[in-house]
Amino acid sequence: MRISRNEFMFSVSFTLDFLEMGIRSNITNHNKRVSLISIRIGKAMGLDEESIFDLAAYAILHDNGITHKTFNAISENGVDRLEKSLSHCITGEMNLETFPFIKKRENIIKYHHERYDGQGYFGIEGCDIPLFSRIITLADRVEIEYRMRTDREEILSNIAGDTGTLFSPDVCEAFKEISGNTSFWLSLDDMFISHEMKRELPKFDIEMDLRDLLAISCILCNIIDAKSPFTGTHTKGIARIACKMAGYFGFDEERKTKLIIAANLHDLGKIVVPNAIIDKNGKLTKDEFAIMKSHTYYTRKALESVKGLEDVVEWAANHHEKLDGSGYPYGFARESLSFESQLLACVDIFQALTENRPYRESLGIEKVRGIMMDMAGRGYINGDIASHVIEHCRDENQNIF
Ligand SMILES: [Fe+2]
Ligand SMILES: [Fe+2]
Ligand SMILES: [Fe+2]
Ligand SMILES: [Fe+2]
Repeated sequence: MRISRNEFMFSVSFTLDFLEMGIRSNITNHNKRVSLISIRIGKAMGLDEESIFDLAAYAILHDNGITHKTFNAISENGVDRLEKSLSHCITGEMNLETFPFIKKRENIIKYHHERYDGQGYFGIEGCDIPLFSRIITLADRVEIEYRMRTDREEILSNIAGDTGTLFSPDVCEAFKEISGNTSFWLSLDDMFISHEMKRELPKFDIEMDLRDLLAISCILCNIIDAKSPFTGTHTKGIARIACKMAGYFGFDEERKTKLIIAANLHDLGKIVVPNAIIDKNGKLTKDEFAIMKSHTYYTRKALESVKGLEDVVEWAANHHEKLDGSGYPYGFARESLSFESQLLACVDIFQALTENRPYRESLGIEKVRGIMMDMAGRGYINGDIASHVIEHCRDENQNIF
């Protein structure tokens, strides 16, 4: 399987911007902008192409540790306090342990809010802070200032005022050089940011293999599950059951890995759905359900531009389609739904019924069988596949039956 690094990196950037939009509703494209500013600073500092590519990736991922939980804990004083929370630096660093960067570097995310004068969270000072972290620290602040102010001179003077205390002088020097150009500021606009990033990101023909992709999908799976305390193990549970069923149905290694990746990514679009809806302790209103239903559409949109990933996208994004065409978001019917899509739909329902939800406890196996067979009888899901999932995976969740 051949997946372009560049294309996948864009998918990840869309996903993380969705996440940030979901958590901090008025913010768009924060990660992409931080990445573009970092790329430009890196180029001005003479970094080589491989380093620029990794710097862009670290910048896209810099706030991956921000979760709904972090947000709840510190949101009283708004966005700035969220950015400064120590926990997202530590969680974010840990999340990326297996991310396939071209060259792995330590502590970039951990120190992305560290102060140059050594007065930061970890007391690391000056050039002991990794260069990538120092670049991202400044890019992050420039991005926040860009959204808050229209006066560019004021932004430059604010940054200059913090040079040597918050920010590294050599990084500030590079920023000064690039920010004098009008196009620098125009390119940060929501309208242009994606296009500009595509243009500036070094093109690599390096392709990722399935193992790289699996590692990234596991990271995204953790981020998705961290969104809600009530569905905190949903994605991992689905991936585990999908793996088991792939073995049961005799999938070869590639097909099995692709199914696990699809399972890891199936609810990626839930990142956009507000937690007030996901965690609601009661029946969703018509409007809330309409928003909830958008999540599989977002799953598809985040992934569909990646060439080579077509199967995975289909299997992941079709898990709420029904065989009689009454599902969502497209209303695909049986003939358009592959065996894998039908299998993942059954696995999703099985896992959902056997885990605790805000509005009910997990259900016992006989109740689960009753519900799933009823759905099969109505023509929603494949009854044969559903029976195999129930029989073969009944012990998977035995602790809760
Ligand atoms: Fe941050
Ligand atoms: Fe940030
Ligand atoms: Fe879903
Ligand atoms: Fe799901």
